[in-house]
This record gives sequence, structure tokens and C-alpha cells, in this order.
Amino acid sequence: MSSVIDLLKSHRSIRKFRPEPIAAELLQSLFEAGQAAATSSFLQGSTIIRVTDPANRSKLAELAGNQKYVETAAEFLVFCADLKRAGNYCDAYEKPFEGDFTEHFIIATVDVALMAQSLVTAAESVDLGICYIGGLRNNPGPVSELLQLPRGVYPVFGLCLGYPDQDPEVKPRLPVPVVVKQDVYKEDGDQESIAGYDEAVRDYYRTRTGGGHGISWSEQVATLLSEKSRPHMREFLAGQGFKFK
Ligand SMILES: Cc1cc2nc3c(=O)[nH]c(=O)nc-3n(C[C@H](O)[C@H](O)[C@H](O)COP(=O)(O)O)c2cc1C
Repeated sequence: MSSVIDLLKSHRSIRKFRPEPIAAELLQSLFEAGQAAATSSFLQGSTIIRVTDPANRSKLAELAGNQKYVETAAEFLVFCADLKRAGNYCDAYEKPFEGDFTEHFIIATVDVALMAQSLVTAAESVDLGICYIGGLRNNPGPVSELLQLPRGVYPVFGLCLGYPDQDPEVKPRLPVPVVVKQDVYKEDGDQESIAGYDEAVRDYYRTRTGGGHGISWSEQVATLLSEKSRPHMREFLAGQGFKFK
């Protein structure tokens, strides 16, 4: 099997980092690797804010729900969907700006995710560890203000990056047949497979928490989807110029 496939299958989020900095040339290469990802219509609708000011790091850690590793990782990057950079050229070429359709929002958000994941793969290939931080969307307004994000730009997630100071287990994923369907969407056999998977996830949590109760995947996601989730996002995005036309 290729070493890239092995690398991808060995991913696990890292939440405790050693203090060593990441060399400037390496960081530059990681940015270039991220930028090399495919980008819808060549829009390149992403911007990364590299947060180096310690006071801003600590504020972002708090805004993300007191996630300490936002402060302690060697690097903290905020990945933003960006329709502003391209939109500037509507003015320059005297074209009307129509970049506030739902489709544009999807394009930019997908671009950000692809760029981030390419950067992550590159980082993990040189023994760095990462943790995505969606917690920034708990407080997207104050985050955007702190980072001076203009209209047309929103923070999709953050990313902690650094040399790992822990070696957690790989978290099991759903069985492939539950996720990959042939020709048409079918749920046959999924419940049985997911019941077995639930056991594996319970075991994973029991091991990780040293013998605790261990919650299943199905219960976890049922709880997730039974609760309101960041209901402020719609209004926040509208305020940033994402109108979902
Ligand atoms: C977009 C995104 C946002 C995430 N946000 C957070 C976060 O705010 N805090 C955190 O500790 N983990 C966060 N995670 C990490 C997930 O919890 C983790 O990827 C998932 O539990 C699977 O575990 P693994 O990455 O170790 O395989 C996030 C992951 C993604 C993809």
C-alpha cells in the first residue's frame, strides 16, 4: 500500500503540543501544498489568517469555547471562505457583483476545506499534528472583528498545528459499506453494521478515558442532531454579505 494511504489512515487529532516552533521554510511549503488543492472554477476562494499575536491567540482560545490548545499549538491558522478577493474585480472590470448566491457560498466553503485538508496531509507527512477548531463558530462575530474580516469573508474553522506531545489512538470510522453505496442510495444492512461499529466506538472511548462508560457513535450523533446548533450562523453570514440567493 502507498505510504500516502497509510499516512491518511493514521490520522488522529492532536490536542497537546510540544513548544517547538515550525521552521519558516516548512510552514511556507505547507501553505503551498494547501494552495495546490483543486479549487472550484479556479476561484481560489480561501484566505488563511496566521495568528501570531499571543493576546489574540488567547482571545481566540476563549472564543472557541476555552480550547487551550488554540493558545499552546506552535501555529494557529484561521481558514476563511473569501469571496471578496475575486469580487473586487467585478468593480475593476465594471461587472455587477452577483457573488452572494448560495452556490458561491458552497464553492468558497468547499475550497477552504480542500485547501485545509491538503495542508493537513502535508503537515502530517512531516510528523506534525493538527486539530481543526470549529469552535470558532461559537462566536463568529467577535472572531471576525478580531481578525478584521471584511464583508465577503467568514471564518470557517481554525487549525492548531504543531509537534505532538501525545500519541492518541486512531478513532474508528464507519464501515465502508455504510458510507459507500453502489449505484443508488440504500440502507440495507446498515443498522446491523452500525451496531457493531457502535461497540468499537464505545471501546475506543473506554480505552481513551481509562475505563469510563463509553458512548456509542449513534447516540452521540442522535444527541447532536436533536439540539439546535449555532443558530446565530445564518444571521452572522447574512451580515458578512452571504445572502443565500
Ligand atoms: C471542521 C472541523 C471542526 C472541528 N472542531 C473541533 C474543535 O473545535 N475542537 C476539537 O477539539 N476538535 C474539533 N474537531 C476534531 C473532531 O472532533 C475530530 O476530527 C473527530 O472527532 C474525529 O477524530 P480524529 O480527528 O482524531 O480522527 C473538528 C474537526 C473538523 C473536521
